[in-house]
Amino acid sequence: MPYSNDPTMLLDGIRAFIDPVHVRTDPDSRLNYGRDWTRLYAPNPLAVVLPGSVDQAQQLVRYANDYRLALVPSGGRTGLSGAAVACQSEIVVSLERMNQIIEFDPVDRSVTCQAGVVTEAVQNFAREHDLYYPVDFASRGSSQIGGNIATNAGGIKVIRYGLTRNWVTGLKVITGRGDLLELNRGLIKNASGYDLRHLFIGSEGTLGLIVEATLQLTRPLREPVVMVLGVPNLDSMMSLYHVFRNKLELSAFEFFSELALRHVLNKGLHRPFDVATPYYVLIEFDNPEQWHTDTALALFEQCAEQGWLADGVISQSESQAKELWRLREDISESISEYLPYKNDLAVRISRAPAFLAEADALLTREYPDFEVLWYGHIGDGNLHINILKPDKLDPAAFIAKCGTVSEHLFSILQQYGGSISAEHGVGLTKKPYLQYTRDETEISYLRAIKQAFDPNGIMNPGKIFDSHNDA
Ligand code: MLT
Ligand code: ZN
Repeated sequence: MPYSNDPTMLLDGIRAFIDPVHVRTDPDSRLNYGRDWTRLYAPNPLAVVLPGSVDQAQQLVRYANDYRLALVPSGGRTGLSGAAVACQSEIVVSLERMNQIIEFDPVDRSVTCQAGVVTEAVQNFAREHDLYYPVDFASRGSSQIGGNIATNAGGIKVIRYGLTRNWVTGLKVITGRGDLLELNRGLIKNASGYDLRHLFIGSEGTLGLIVEATLQLTRPLREPVVMVLGVPNLDSMMSLYHVFRNKLELSAFEFFSELALRHVLNKGLHRPFDVATPYYVLIEFDNPEQWHTDTALALFEQCAEQGWLADGVISQSESQAKELWRLREDISESISEYLPYKNDLAVRISRAPAFLAEADALLTREYPDFEVLWYGHIGDGNLHINILKPDKLDPAAFIAKCGTVSEHLFSILQQYGGSISAEHGVGLTKKPYLQYTRDETEISYLRAIKQAFDPNGIMNPGKIFDSHNDA
């Protein structure tokens, strides 16, 4: 194929197989589809293309290979690491028109859907069939299944149900070469060699396009209740974790700091109880017919006697449980106006107490003038440490300062064998720090995998790591 640099000609070529109304170049589309929730990068895609079928998506990838066009796969764009950002004249490939549930099998308890289906639509579909899709997070109303898979999304129920990876039994993908692969076909067991499905899960769009997925469903939670407990320090939080987890089957063990809580209170929510404490823990567990209420209250008393908690509340109704969840789930949105610098760290839970102490000392020393908020999925060893940009500070200077502190923080994290990203992904924001979690030898294997699936480097170039063959 002849190589061309003429954008109009290139886009006209796409309009030959995708309806021109779905090949957009208007400023609004380029702005909205060219960014994600990081808001740190100026979007600048060449165009936004919305294929309507697997066939069209495949033609697009093949065309992009012929003309060496960079493609950025795009779901609900709720990501927080810049993986779905297009700021280098790429073509954004939005899967939002491919939003159908294709098949449901009650025997397999599985649902097959197109990649553009919104997470909440799958959750609702499962509920209508008395089943449950347990991958859940605050952006459930906008995020799409394809994006969740591309980032191996985690969220608030991981302690019991694991990550997105645990729920994907089949994938249809178009590799960066333009080949259509059907991976694992909904099987529970399949010991027939390398499982390419798992390479695509968490690949952040760098290996190809995910166009369909088969997801496993499970039984719903049984009358879950929520407790919010006020905790004096991080050590006490870990003590609560051991005590409650040993006696109850937890579906969530989340935490947030008083500083984080204040932001959701400013948005109109109410304190869970009168006493303010430096930290709060949110615990959720099944409680059919109140079976576990006495156990939970006994644990509460025991922990209070030890001084591990100062106060607490247990939900008395579904609506109260939802209100308590909002104290944790609304934090991210409530601080978005401060352009927070986000850390999304993971450590093994056994190493969390020592790591938390060192991280806390470092951040207190290094950020005396910045507001630092702690929250996250501490039951999974996943901490979200958000640094809020002071009003007067220029964004670039702020990011530079945070980047310097990150080097120190990630050095400590490395000593604890942790990860620079638990669930948000590497994208652009964490790319400079990948070597704190993956050594050079391992990264060379990642590059070789990228080369095998995407030899021309057209798929989401410059994300996770720079490869030698980026378009
Ligand atoms: C959360 O746990 O609230 C999400 O990962 C979003 C965030 O970290 O801000
Ligand atoms: Zn999170």
